[in-house]
Formats: sequence, C-alpha cells, structure tokens
Amino acid sequence: MDFTSRKDLKELVVYITGGTKGIGKGMAEVFLVYGMRVAISGRSSDQAKKVAQELGLEDRVLGLGSDVSDLQQEEAAVQKILDKWGRLDVVIANAGLGVFAPVDQLDPKDWKAMMDTNLTGVFHSLKASVEALKSSEGYYFTIASLAGTNFFAKGAGYNASKFGVVGFTQAAMLDLRPYNIKVSTLMPGSVASEFNGNTPSEKDAWKIQPEDLGTLVLDLLRMPARTLPSKVEIRPSRPDLKS
Ligand SMILES: NC(=O)c1ccc[n+]([C@@H]2O[C@H](COP(=O)([O-])OP(=O)(O)OC[C@H]3O[C@@H](n4cnc5c(N)ncnc54)[C@H](OP(=O)(O)O)[C@@H]3O)[C@@H](O)[C@H]2O)c1
Repeated sequence: MDFTSRKDLKELVVYITGGTKGIGKGMAEVFLVYGMRVAISGRSSDQAKKVAQELGLEDRVLGLGSDVSDLQQEEAAVQKILDKWGRLDVVIANAGLGVFAPVDQLDPKDWKAMMDTNLTGVFHSLKASVEALKSSEGYYFTIASLAGTNFFAKGAGYNASKFGVVGFTQAAMLDLRPYNIKVSTLMPGSVASEFNGNTPSEKDAWKIQPEDLGTLVLDLLRMPARTLPSKVEIRPSRPDLKS
C-alpha cells in the first residue's frame, strides 16, 4: 500500500503491543481519531479488553491478552486480528519495561525480564506478523529509546536491551524492504507514561506526551513510498523546564 493520503490511513489495521497504558494507549487514541482500526495488547486479557472498551467501539478496537515474551501468544494475537479484520497493516512493537540498578546489583531476573520483553519480544511480534505485513506491504515499528544509543549509569540491562532493539530493527529493515515492508525504530527520550512506576501528572508537562508519538507515526505513514526514515530520535524540546 502506498501510505500517502488520509483516506488510506482510514483503511489501516494497526496492532500495538503493550497498549494498555502509556505510549501504546496514547498512540491508539490518536489512530482511532483518524478512523483506523486498532488492536492493543497487554499481559492480562481482561485488562486489555477493559482498556479497549474505554478506547472505543468494538468494531474499531480489539483488546488482546498476549505476553510478547511468548511467541505462541503473539501468533495467537495476530491470528485474532486477522480473524476480525482480515488484514494487518501496521505493527508497533512497543511493550517494554525498565529496571534500573548498578550492574553489580542488577537482579538476573530483572535482566531476563528486560531481554525477554524488550528485545526478544520485538522479534516475536515481527515473526508473528511478518507474513501479514508482506500481504499488506505494511509497516513495522519498534519503540526503542534514546537509551538505545546513549548509555548511562544504572542502565546496563535497559541499555543492552534497547541497543539490541535498534540493531535488530535496522537489520530487519534491510531484510524486509524488498517486500515493500517499511521498518523504523523510534527512539524517544522522556515520555509522560507509567514507565518505571511513574504516575503522569503536571510535573511531566515538559516530557514528550504519548499522543505526540502517535502523530509521529501518522507522519511516517504519510511519507511517500520511496522514502524511509528508518531510525528516528525524539526528545523533549525543553528539558530545562523539568521541575
Ligand atoms: N516512558 C519513557 O520515557 C520511554 C522512553 C523511551 C522508550 N520507552 C519505551 O516505550 C515503550 C512503552 O513504555 P511506556 O513508557 O508506555 O511504559 P508503560 O506506561 O509502563 O507501559 C508499558 C506497556 O507495556 C506492556 N507490557 C509490559 N510487559 C509486557 C509483556 N511482556 N507483554 C505484553 N505487554 C507488556 C504493559 O501492559 P501490561 O502491564 O497490561 O502487561 C503496558 O501496556 C517501552 O518499550 C519503553 O521501554 C519509554
């Protein structure tokens, strides 16, 4: 599909992993305004269905229980999208978590959780959806982070997972572009979400807002077919306003 007009956008079916809150939920809200059909997932099927009901009508939104660290669950989730809407155009591998500790104190369980979700999870979401994306000549996004290019103290596990996501996504882009599948990694800085136990409030006004990433995805979907911004860094314009 040539993603060049708003009319085309309305026809698209999007799957966002980890859409029960934060960035994924904010992006879903934007896509629904533009008439797209959106599936969101989370580890709890009940929670994903509850959030989907809050987001919109049953024919436009689908809530799915799928832990991205389990390939079979991701395959089942994608099948449910295809059963409901018969197509899948855009996949946003967004599910992720961060645990921050000096490397000598980082719990191996937290290391494994970050690798299984942040890194192996994006591979699973791609494996589960790639044939559908070949059919639609679709678009696969990963939500990496500026932590995928800037390392920092207490970030060994998170940095490792996100550097991995950036490398994975760039290599996948090379493999998939001959199929007319676009692949991009988005690398946000601080976003106002529930990440790492945060509760979004006024104090987060200086941060990127989840919906800003939704509008960025729309902008990328509207790029002419011939052009592919494959790696996009996004940062707050005024970090000096942090209180
Ligand atoms: N917030 C930031 O400043 C920031 C900056 C750069 C990048 N990021 C990245 O953005 C992505 C989204 O994070 P966020 O900020 O929106 O955090 P968030 O508010 O904590 O949301 C995380 C989402 O991921 C889901 N999730 C976690 N583990 C999962 C798993 N194993 N399988 C399926 N879903 C899972 C959660 O759903 P359930 O809890 O319902 O399972 C939730 O919907 C992450 O990859 C994060 O690393 C965040």
